[in-house]
Amino acid sequence: MHIAQRARDAEPFHALAFGQRAAALEAAGHHVVKLSIGEPDFGAPPAVRDAMREAMDGRPLPYTPALGLPALRDALARFYREKHGVVVDAARIAITSGASSALLLVTAATTDPGDDVLIADPSYPCNREMVRSFGGMPLLVPTSAATRYQLSVDAVADAWSDRTTAVMIASPSNPTGTSIPPAELAAICDLARSRDAWRIVDEIYLDLADPAPGGAPARTVLALDPDAVVIGSFSKYFGMTGWRLGWAVLPEALVPVVERLAMNYFLSASAPAQLAALAAFAPESLALCEERRLELARRRTIVLDGLAAIGLPVPVEPDGAFYVYIDVSGTGMDAWRFCEEVLQHAHVSLTPGRDFAVATARTHVRLSYAASPADLSEGIARVGAFLDSRRRES
Ligand SMILES: Cc1ncc(COP(=O)(O)O)c(C=O)c1O
Repeated sequence: MHIAQRARDAEPFHALAFGQRAAALEAAGHHVVKLSIGEPDFGAPPAVRDAMREAMDGRPLPYTPALGLPALRDALARFYREKHGVVVDAARIAITSGASSALLLVTAATTDPGDDVLIADPSYPCNREMVRSFGGMPLLVPTSAATRYQLSVDAVADAWSDRTTAVMIASPSNPTGTSIPPAELAAICDLARSRDAWRIVDEIYLDLADPAPGGAPARTVLALDPDAVVIGSFSKYFGMTGWRLGWAVLPEALVPVVERLAMNYFLSASAPAQLAALAAFAPESLALCEERRLELARRRTIVLDGLAAIGLPVPVEPDGAFYVYIDVSGTGMDAWRFCEEVLQHAHVSLTPGRDFAVATARTHVRLSYAASPADLSEGIARVGAFLDSRRRES
């Protein structure tokens, strides 16, 4: 039977292969320290879990409207107003099955065959696959430590072609945990808007970013460019990865378009997850999520200090999310081999740069510090001991 070309072309997550090997080591009785997983270890706030139990009281739970429960869209609009100081009409918010569906819907709504979409190298790999699925061409724009591995307006201007229809940015980014400076983001948005192109900004880690100087929350692109498309998620800040709930904030013109596609592709996001997510905005849930952000920042310090002590450089320190992007080129191993050896000999799982990047595919690995402080210290100590033994042998 015929398998579609787009499916044959799709790259797998290489991290999964390492996950499987880690599982095999565990099955053989080893304790593997997993620093490869991009999800917080906290889980959903208790009020959300309680609300889910209540939603399971036997009520019928039909589909919600395609763009989501009105009460949840209102709660998100209030969150943007109260936390981020931006006024967003709830009618412009689409509730989706995770940020993944939001990205899929927005890509489907804005990409035609032959369109170029500018994306930073390194970046979250699924976006490229989605753009390709709709016949577009993801153009990976080189970045460097000097721009915190984020796009600069100069790099965007250089990469622009007469087929460019969108720029995709994630801030903070996966795999680097680095944010784009607001002035640079504003300049890129201005450039793209002046050329009639979409600005698609993935802010799923925004609430896990360090506050701006003065203590205000890290700024959403909506404060700079109210017509940017914003992708959000309950997965990371709210610790709800498996609940599969996210959202998109859309410019008015895209709302009916995304609604039509959402009806066709998904009918609606999960009704019980949406009902439970209302409790994510209760004051005690928001206070807990803030405590967790601070806890992740403490873990970042453990990791950065630990990596420095074992001689593994992090060229750009993250300012959010829960990732560090480590340069392992000084070890004499390429990134893939480094991940293999560290898993095999130190029983620590990391993710090779190849999952995210072209330029840094062979030199960098991603470590996720969404693990317990004990695991982080143990994992780094094991990697350090492994590197020491290699140095002694050579
Ligand atoms: C940058 C980025 N965008 C989107 C996603 C998808 O997240 P979700 O669980 O909300 O679908 C991820 C997941 O790790 C991510 O890192």
